[in-house]
Amino acid sequence: MAESRASKLEFQFLVDYRQSGSNTAAFMKAMESLRSAGAPSAALARYESALHALAAQNRLRALRPQTGVDFSSNDYLGLAASARMRNALTTALARGTAIGAGGSRLLRGNAPEHEELEAKAAAFFHAERTLFFSSGYAANSALFATLPQKDDLVILDELIHASSREGVRAGRAASVESLHNDAASVEDSIRTWRAAGGLGQIWIAAESLYSMDGDRAPLSDLMTLADKHDAFLVIDEAHATGVFGTDGRGLAENIEGRDNVIVLHTCGKALGSAGALLSLPLSLRDFLVNRCRAFIFSTAPSPLMAVAALEGLAILKDEPQRREALSSLVAYAGHQAKGHALPVSGSQIFPVIIGDDLGAMQIASGLRERGFDVRGVRPPTVPKGTARLRISITLNVTEAAIAGLFDALAELRA
Ligand SMILES: Cc1ncc(COP(=O)(O)O)c(C=O)c1O
Repeated sequence: MAESRASKLEFQFLVDYRQSGSNTAAFMKAMESLRSAGAPSAALARYESALHALAAQNRLRALRPQTGVDFSSNDYLGLAASARMRNALTTALARGTAIGAGGSRLLRGNAPEHEELEAKAAAFFHAERTLFFSSGYAANSALFATLPQKDDLVILDELIHASSREGVRAGRAASVESLHNDAASVEDSIRTWRAAGGLGQIWIAAESLYSMDGDRAPLSDLMTLADKHDAFLVIDEAHATGVFGTDGRGLAENIEGRDNVIVLHTCGKALGSAGALLSLPLSLRDFLVNRCRAFIFSTAPSPLMAVAALEGLAILKDEPQRREALSSLVAYAGHQAKGHALPVSGSQIFPVIIGDDLGAMQIASGLRERGFDVRGVRPPTVPKGTARLRISITLNVTEAAIAGLFDALAELRA
């Protein structure tokens, strides 16, 4: 009862807030009516004022329903609702696969589905071992919180995902940011740190394909640097797995499996399921199993999700036509973008930089009203002044929809 009353009030708040123009006055008014309906107590005041500050900066986030054609998901190969994935899960359920793991992997939660996924994924990615986590966020933050040690230095690309930053913050190593996609800047950081007496291990962290810009890291330069300076290279393939490389093995396929390389493959994007696989040398895998708190003190991922991720990997191999179809849609979108004088990233992620936060959200909202599900992305997710539309191309769209989207975008920006 209490819950449904609270969510009704919250819903009314959002309706009032949006209907009255989503500005500070609207926020205050909506808050007032929420309060007069008896909702927040004094203890909630500081949260209200934080929300107020976000609203004043046009940065208040709200959950929105899925609507219209999918131009915002990461379901690049259209696997999430595919018949083959459904069948795999239905079959697994029928043969008795558990939905919940029931415990930590180190206790009763270590199901045969986890082990099968990890063994087959290691073979697929040519890695010594893989370790399955409930999400990419969990895997990245666990990895950076656990593996780099006290005297080490982690060098993070300035645009790296929040989950890697979170791990570094929780860990004991020092960290520094390098300029985006700039191997010389990484080497400068190494030299400066060594010159200042840094003696520990160096960790270089990058995404192979950046989630908000769709551009690629200079992986071979970073690998050369890692070898030269005896460093580990950690590559987040969240947006490349399934889309690039032989059988969709990603952009790091030529270096994956090396002793100084760790790769993250998320399962919730092109693989159409959920979770993430860390691919790494055996000793690092065993160290995580022994020392990683997020792995030890957490219920294992659903065995059913392990089945789904494994099916996703099998589809990558069996159905190359999905990757081909995606690449032809991406090429088509590239022509459309160029035709409208918009930049092309060379991947399935098309960022359209608008600049100001409100403008980006208004254009995104206009596109949704026209039936295109595009989301605006604002700071702090992206750097200040670069609020954007993040358009992603997936097999859930057609060429006609892509053409319609770019026309609508041109109209809204005119
Ligand atoms: C680059 C990158 N790494 C990691 C993650 C986290 O993965 P997950 O969504 O599986 O938690 C994301 C998610 O958006 C991402 O874009």
